[in-house]
Parts: sequence; structure tokens; C-alpha cells
Amino acid sequence: MITPKPGIMDIAMYQGGQSALPGVDDVVKLSSNENPFGASPMAAEAYARSVHSLHRYPSADHFELRTAIGEVHGLDPDCIICGAGSDEIIHFLCQSYAGSGDEVLYTELGFLMYRISALAAGATPVEASEPERVTDVDALLAACTERTRLIVIANPNNPTGTMIGGGELARLADGLPDGALLVLDGAYAEFADGYDGGAGLVAGRDNVFMTRTFSKLYGLGGLRIGWGYGAREIIDVLNRIRGPFNLSQAQLAAAEAAVRDRDFADRYVAENRRLRVWLAEAMAEIGVRSDPSCANFVLARFADAAEAGSCDAWLRQAGIIVRSAAGYKLPHCLRITVGDEASCRRVAHAMRAFKESRE
Ligand SMILES: Cc1ncc(COP(=O)(O)O)c(C=O)c1O
Repeated sequence: MITPKPGIMDIAMYQGGQSALPGVDDVVKLSSNENPFGASPMAAEAYARSVHSLHRYPSADHFELRTAIGEVHGLDPDCIICGAGSDEIIHFLCQSYAGSGDEVLYTELGFLMYRISALAAGATPVEASEPERVTDVDALLAACTERTRLIVIANPNNPTGTMIGGGELARLADGLPDGALLVLDGAYAEFADGYDGGAGLVAGRDNVFMTRTFSKLYGLGGLRIGWGYGAREIIDVLNRIRGPFNLSQAQLAAAEAAVRDRDFADRYVAENRRLRVWLAEAMAEIGVRSDPSCANFVLARFADAAEAGSCDAWLRQAGIIVRSAAGYKLPHCLRITVGDEASCRRVAHAMRAFKESRE
């Protein structure tokens, strides 16, 4: 039997958030950090229009989408690459820059796909400690070796919801060994007040790269669109391994309309900001703690894994699906997407009933 390359069989398959509960109607899914308000109607219209050109190959250079992203974010479109989700961009980075004998470094509570992409490239995944559920720049710098090629951090991070500021990011970038690239995963960047996702840092340095997604803010997780921004030389490298038609016409059209619909995006950011505070306070009132979140979810902390598991089961019975953080080495935590107001109220109500049932 043919054998796969080293590392491939060490990959544990990524599990997506559950979306249905057998026998329960009226389920609210808060397990994948999706936009509770759906996608922009303009994106939906653009998607629908693409039905008229199904026989045509899509653009291979994504010029229009890159131009739209560049205009909205004030970035040079030539320094942008688009992919099937930001997952694909991270995959391109690992495939291009990390192979056998190289190390891909991330934080111990970092997003699970970093390990998968590192192993798929034949590289060695390395974790830096993350005390207090916050990215630790000193731990990352201490974990760097001459084999470190990529350092990937999500800022804000999933599943913790915490982030580090511009000063810390710059200190990290400045302290990296030569030949290493800092990748700032900005999947949740728009939910953090006053944060540019690291774009400013990229502009001033050639050892920093930023990834972004249409899956969270723009509610297009089902379509799979993400992008990356970095030095032209890096974009050139990544484009060489990118499939020329990695994005369909429907993806390109919907993403372009979505990024141009600022009202829709701004409304969601404002509503998320209001409701994540409300939800965290409602949880705190019943003794469930969480770190201040900079994303579109909160990480609820329980006394231990048993209590978190019981609360998860209780919420499911109430038709609410949240995400256990056990796979992220946080078995005493549940990650809960900030939904719309009705969903947040439902979570708070069910959690209160859970807590009272145990008094
Ligand atoms: C931190 C982080 N990065 C990247 C992604 C992947 O996003 P995409 O849907 O763009 O592949 C996610 C999705 O949950 C995420 O949480």
C-alpha cells in the first residue's frame, strides 16, 4: 500500500461546529462564530447573478475583488492574495515556506488549523505557552529557533477572544530570527475596536503578513473566501502554488459586494460590541466568568470540565449549540458565539436555569 508523506497521519481531522440537534426544533447555532444576521443582501444578489455565467471560468487574478479590498482597507491590491477561506492562505504559507526540518510556531491555545497546515507541509508544529489565555510574546520569542519559519497568531485569538496590542505585536516582529515570518491571522480583527488587523505593521516590515476572512464579519462562511496581505515578494511566491481558479465567480462576486457594503458590516460590528458585553455581564451575574472578548464570541469558564460538560448538555436540551473548548485544551470552557439579541437572552436564561438547578 502506498504510504503518505511523514506528518500526514499525525493530523487529527478538524471538526466543524455542530449545527443540528436530533429531535429538537428551533435550534440556535452558536458554535462556529457565524454572523447571526446572515450575509449582506447585496452579496446575496451578486451571488444570485452569477448563475448567468456558470459556463465561464472565473477570473484567475481576482483583480476586481483585490481592488475592492484595497479601496476599502487602503491597501495596495498588488500586495493582496485571495483564497478559499483564510485557511487556504495559511495553507499556502506553510506549503511555500515550511517543510521537513522547519518549525511552525503558534500559541498553545491557537487555532487548530495551524497545526494541520504545518503537518500537511511536512513541517514540525511547535507550541508556545499561553498563560492566562493571552498570547505571550516572551514565550513565543523564547520558543524561536534557527528552524522557525512561520509564527502564526490569531489576534484576537480563537477560542480565547483575547488579543495583544500594537506595541506587543511590534516587539514580536522585531525579535524574530532572520528568515522567519510573523503571520497575523485577523479572522476576528474587525470586532476589535481600533485595530487594523496588523496592516500597519505589514506596511513597515517585510517579516509580517496578515490574513483576513469573509467568513465572520461578512457572514460568508459557507462560500469560503479569505485573503492575505504582505510584501509583493511573498504574494508572488504564494501565487505560484495557488490554483489559478481557486475562487469561483460566485465567491468573487459575493465577496466584492460584501466588502463594499459598509453599512451592513458596521451595523453588525456595533451590535456585536453591545451584545458581547451584555452576554458577559449576564454570565458574570450567575458566576460564569469570561475574559473581556475582542471577537464575536465569549469563552465561558466553569469550575471544571464536569460543570462545563453539564452546562453544554443543558444548553443542548434547550436547543442551544455552543462549542466545547476541550479540543483547545480548555475542557472547563465553552465558546459561545454572540448571536442576535434573542439568542443572547436565550443563552443567559438557559444558563441561569442551569446554575439554579445545581444550587
Ligand atoms: C482564528 C481563525 N482563523 C482562521 C479561521 C478560518 O477562517 P476561514 O473561514 O476564512 O477559512 C477561523 C475560523 O474559524 C478562525 O477562527
